Amino acid sequence: MTFPTALGLPPERTEHVIRCAGLAPSLHNRQPWLFRLGEHVIEVHADPQRRLPATDPDDRELRLSCGAALLNLRLALEHEGLRPVVDPPSSMSAPTVLAEVRDGGRAEQAPAERELHDAIPRRRTNRRPFQEIPVSTTDRHALINAAQREQGWLHVLARTELDAFAELAQRAHRVQLDDERFRAELERWTGRSRQVSEGVPTASAGPRPEPQDLWVVRDFSGGSAPERVAGKDFERDPLLAVLCSHHDSRADDVRAGQAMQRVLLTACAHGLSASLLSQVVEVQDTRDELRRMLGGSLHPQAVLRFGYGSPVPETPRRDPADLLFD
Ligand SMILES: Cc1cc2nc3c(=O)[nH]c(=O)nc-3n(C[C@H](O)[C@H](O)[C@H](O)COP(=O)(O)O)c2cc1C
Repeated sequence: MTFPTALGLPPERTEHVIRCAGLAPSLHNRQPWLFRLGEHVIEVHADPQRRLPATDPDDRELRLSCGAALLNLRLALEHEGLRPVVDPPSSMSAPTVLAEVRDGGRAEQAPAERELHDAIPRRRTNRRPFQEIPVSTTDRHALINAAQREQGWLHVLARTELDAFAELAQRAHRVQLDDERFRAELERWTGRSRQVSEGVPTASAGPRPEPQDLWVVRDFSGGSAPERVAGKDFERDPLLAVLCSHHDSRADDVRAGQAMQRVLLTACAHGLSASLLSQVVEVQDTRDELRRMLGGSLHPQAVLRFGYGSPVPETPRRDPADLLFD
């Protein structure tokens, strides 16, 4: 099949921008997005078939994931020489529409944005231990600025906040593991083969969780991760940061997703590895407590861990043709 066209791009370039959008991170790699291509607009839709109702009952992380895909789409369109203009859904839009992207004229992509575009296929979630090397101040500032560029806020957890955060993370983790529906979703979508186009393959899981782990406590291997080599524990002093939005509407979730993705791509472009630790923001009580811990005015959206890691394999993705809304 010849790929359909959008915004005046030829088929193979349209396919490229949709492929880039589809390389965004998503909860359990469910890839909960669809795109409707038009001559003058690309609509970004949430795909309700790809909800994870036990883990993400309000679809907040689904919208976050779609926001990440939207940022990739914007960068890919800029790479094609277009200036994407993003509008929120109008009153006429279908209920699943999260954003509408139009062509705002021609413009050359700035070098810094090109670096982020080039990082799209290289960015991966890295669940393995990172080196015991602190993230440099320059890199920290780059991550914080990236969140601000997308109207988000990145709160880097201070050493003095880590104990309280660890306690929240452990509590959220226990709440989730006590929930049979949560466990069923985790089991269904992780520990999978690399041959299937969605879900998290065993090769992308970190080491088997151990009692001494303070943060990375979710087992993505389907129970098949090998024994941990003695002494190969997670870094003692990780850089943990909470990506926050200033408000808490659906549109804010989509915006936060773009901020999260700009932060993750910036990390990748700076040679940093990253993973997500979402338990705390998925359990409502601990999310509320984290919000109070951060002063009460910001809305925690995602918890990110950064460091210098070793290379990890890519996770599979669906074909761009399967991401189109008929
Ligand atoms: C909203 C959201 C929450 C996530 N939560 C976690 C998490 O708690 N733990 C984890 O290891 N990965 C988490 N991930 C990472 C996804 O599992 C990952 O993006 C997906 O498997 C695709 O892999 P990739 O990021 O390497 O492309 C999350 C991703 C998103 C977008």
